[in-house]
Amino acid sequence: MTFSPEPVSVLFTEQQIAERNAELAREIAEAVPPGLFLVALLRGSFMFAADLMRALHHIGVHPQLDFITLSSYGGGMKSSGNVTLHQGLTEDIAGRPVVLVDDILESGRTLFFAKQLLLGLGAKEVRIAALLEKPGHRAVQIDADFVGFVCPDKFLVGYGLDYGNYYRELPFIGYLSR
Ligand code: IMP
Ligand code: MG
Repeated sequence: MTFSPEPVSVLFTEQQIAERNAELAREIAEAVPPGLFLVALLRGSFMFAADLMRALHHIGVHPQLDFITLSSYGGGMKSSGNVTLHQGLTEDIAGRPVVLVDDILESGRTLFFAKQLLLGLGAKEVRIAALLEKPGHRAVQIDADFVGFVCPDKFLVGYGLDYGNYYRELPFIGYLSR
């Protein structure tokens, strides 16, 4: 199968993202007590989580990591509104301060679902690090404690974010400019 990518307009460059990740790591290190556990939501946050973890390393923080896989989009550009759990944690997070890592906070349903799940598993506290926050679509009351960038109301791709599971490999964040 061949895929012909459409042009993508750059919104946040690789360098801007790297600089912001370093700042986020410092914010997290200051706010979170020892024993940091990162839980990243697959698949959209895989690149952000990897870079954030390295940024934490560079300032002497040594978090542990696990993933959960949730879905709400089902491949298109509109959220279905239903969050489905595909794969839960393998590690025990009971009693741990957790930072939940996601790519983008939009309606808030995904992060709300994930936060409840982690609290139910006994996390001592759950804070949220969202690479992007897209205002104007919030359906549930939830806020991110750490936000990379507030973004415009466009469908974004790159740096882990996908359209139909493509464009994740882009090292920058942008939008389809057709
Ligand atoms: P929420 O549950 O509506 O907050 O949506 C969050 C999830 O929808 C994110 O974790 C993303 O996976 C996906 N999503 C929301 N907006 C975009 C976008 O602009 N591009 C790609 N995925 C998105
Ligand atoms: Mg996601």
